Amino acid sequence: LHRTVIEMDVLERGKMDLPSMQLPVWCRLLEQQARVTLPQKRVVAMVNHAGGVGKTTMSKELAYAFNILGLRVLLIDADAQANLTDWLGMDSVNVTMAQTIGPVLLGQALRLPKPIVICDGLDLIPSTLDLCEVEDEIQVPDFLRLRQAIERLDGYDLVLVDASPTVVGLGRIAAINADEIIVPMTPTDKSIAGLRGIERRLADWQEFNPELQIGALIVTRFDAGTNNDTAMLKIFRDMLSDHLMLGPIPKATMFDAAQLESTPVAILKPNLALPIYAVADSLLKRWGAQLTWAGGLQ
Ligand SMILES: Nc1ncnc2c1ncn2[C@@H]1O[C@H](COP(=O)(O)OP(=O)(O)OP(=O)(O)O)[C@@H](O)[C@H]1O
Ligand SMILES: [Mg+2]
Repeated sequence: LHRTVIEMDVLERGKMDLPSMQLPVWCRLLEQQARVTLPQKRVVAMVNHAGGVGKTTMSKELAYAFNILGLRVLLIDADAQANLTDWLGMDSVNVTMAQTIGPVLLGQALRLPKPIVICDGLDLIPSTLDLCEVEDEIQVPDFLRLRQAIERLDGYDLVLVDASPTVVGLGRIAAINADEIIVPMTPTDKSIAGLRGIERRLADWQEFNPELQIGALIVTRFDAGTNNDTAMLKIFRDMLSDHLMLGPIPKATMFDAAQLESTPVAILKPNLALPIYAVADSLLKRWGAQLTWAGGLQ
């Protein structure tokens, strides 16, 4: 997969204006002699107070993209719908509560459970439907327990938390326990309303986590062939210019197919990796990622 994606990338580079693609391209061109590092472990929550906007899809695809660059990534499924768990090839019906974040959220465990290995450098703490019962029981003193458990974890550069589509319950928990919130947005009014919901709650959440910010918006499911999407993108750029806007990620049926096949979308359609890499690349720059060289190459 990695080879295909990067070969596609190199082939396409001559034709496409993708200046921000340099980091992954160079990593691969140097045949693993370069490594991306982050200054410290970063915890990112994918949140929007709107359903179906691409939170789970972007969690999964970005996790694979960061993994390709050599980052050690932990995905946390913080949604009782458990889509992320199912799309990564586990059957969430068979997941026990002990395998989820549930015990940590309720203060019954200090450490997160042993994660499921998805591939080398990419792990998952899965979810299951019963997590919605935990959601109802979480009290204010428990609000930062997830963060404390993440801080006890060794061996990860990045923790990506896929949240449920709410600003209460697990959506709030995911946000409060993160360094930053990333907001996936389809080109719809619904997504703007969802973002506004987050903005309204941010001050409340900052009482628990004063550093918490909205780090970026990612425009997803963008159909360049429709007037609606093009107009909405312009509206986003005008209205939301105080936020870092990333994407757009094109609309493609391959994203659904990738879920059924439990693969990153790039394995089915390599050039769909390009916009995802561009988003990953922008985030890495923002997080102060360093490219370090092995063997003295410069
Ligand atoms: N770029 C895309 N092109 C086409 N379909 C997409 C794209 N991104 C996501 N989808 C599809 O849109 C649907 C919703 O995506 P997803 O489940 O990731 O959103 P979500 O915000 O996590 O939803 P929920 O709020 O229910 O958790 C899924 O069927 C997914 O396959
Ligand atoms: Mg989801």
